[in-house]
Amino acid sequence: MSIAVVILAAGQGSRMNSDLPKVLHPLAGVPLIAHALRTAQALEPARLVVVTGHGLEAVTRAVQEHAPEALIAHQDQQLGTAHAVAQTRAALEGFSGDLLVLYGDTPFVREETLQAMRAARGEHALVVLGFDAADPGRYGRLVTQGERLERIVEYKDASAAERALTLCNSGVLCADKERLFSLVDAVGNDNASGEYYLTDTVALARAQGLSAGVVRCDEAETLGINTRAELAAAEARFQAGARAAALEDGVTLTAPETVYFAFDTVIGRDAVVGPHVVFGPGVSVESGAEIRAFCHLEGCHVSRGAQVGPFARLRPGAELAEDVRVGNFVEIKNAILDEGAKVNHLSYIGDAHLGEGANIGAGTVTCNYDGVFKHHTEIGARAFIGSDTMLVAPVRVGADAMTGSGSVITEDVPDGALALGRARQVVKPGLAQRLMARLRAQKADKGKG
Ligand code: UD1
Ligand code: CA
Repeated sequence: MSIAVVILAAGQGSRMNSDLPKVLHPLAGVPLIAHALRTAQALEPARLVVVTGHGLEAVTRAVQEHAPEALIAHQDQQLGTAHAVAQTRAALEGFSGDLLVLYGDTPFVREETLQAMRAARGEHALVVLGFDAADPGRYGRLVTQGERLERIVEYKDASAAERALTLCNSGVLCADKERLFSLVDAVGNDNASGEYYLTDTVALARAQGLSAGVVRCDEAETLGINTRAELAAAEARFQAGARAAALEDGVTLTAPETVYFAFDTVIGRDAVVGPHVVFGPGVSVESGAEIRAFCHLEGCHVSRGAQVGPFARLRPGAELAEDVRVGNFVEIKNAILDEGAKVNHLSYIGDAHLGEGANIGAGTVTCNYDGVFKHHTEIGARAFIGSDTMLVAPVRVGADAMTGSGSVITEDVPDGALALGRARQVVKPGLAQRLMARLRAQKADKGKG
């Protein structure tokens, strides 16, 4: 059965107390909405529709970045979750099959859980994802009759007896598209919030003699984020899971609680990650590589046997081949370092290619930016760049070439050549002592005056 996924993300998220739309707050290195998009993509839906409202332009940009195939449905006024679903009608024109509704503020729902819901659709016209809450708080409550779901009551509208129920609504729901649209059309807004609740579709379906069912999942999966405290708790939960998974996968984490992962970090078996390392999005580290303490990595690849840090920063486009060394206070951006290349101390390598075994001395800078354009620096295999060399790009240093320490290299250096780009040294015998004597005499004179 073909499926379409709708993600509701129009709400302002007023309890976040923020100018940023709720679904753009970052979790595990990406906006909250990216997590729901990823979950949806795993189902390979025939269509993916995101309902946006608050922060329309910024949310649309984030959606396009993370799921270019997604369609946007605009909800002008946030009149409730049922009203939000109704806005997807045009985007779903011509689609027939099941509709699965996800919330943009609920990042941890697993693919397996959603597959279980699809399977349960065989028995029920409407399937809702529920969970047993330790502290049900403000979640909607599921009112059941045996195994059957009768209705969902929102916290604000619930009686004391209903509030005592611990089986809660995750918000995730699945039904045939046409059926869901016709139920949504029947939803009213006579409730404590004056909103059109999607949750009311359950009672409406039951009134028509349709059956509704609950698929249960772990509470941690359906954690919905409404406040900054919940966002922080979600981040902590994500990190705890990512650390445990890395350890399970055979990664050595010296101090797991100080390592921060992104949603897509990939680390190979027997890699070693020291304390206080932060992984931004898009990082892969191969088996046996070592990331020492206090490094920050994003959008980069570290190959087998490479060593990074301590105190190194790898920015997007940094590609380290096998056995590369990147040492302390080194920044690498958009640069390919071939096998065995070394940049051990205090350097900036940006928009560059370092050949095999090239050695970059301390304090080297690729001067890649002229204020408008970025330029490329090419360093040949086994080249030896003297300490404190400024490589003014675009520039090329050939294979087996050298630059003298303190050189400013503005012209290409042929293979095997030595380039010196600095003032010639002058030595004046005895001048230092004479100069000192004169200064001391001046000081003594002033003291008398
Ligand atoms: C909702 C459910 C509640 C459930 C909880 C789980 C309803 C009426 N209530 O409550 O039963 O326990 O989620 O987290 O569905 N949205 C729109 N347009 C709107 C309103 C909301 O797109 O007009 C989006 C929001 O951006 C958000 C999602 O729908 O991503 C849920 O809305 P929210 O206001 O957070 O609902 P809750 O009060 O948490
Ligand atoms: Ca919510």
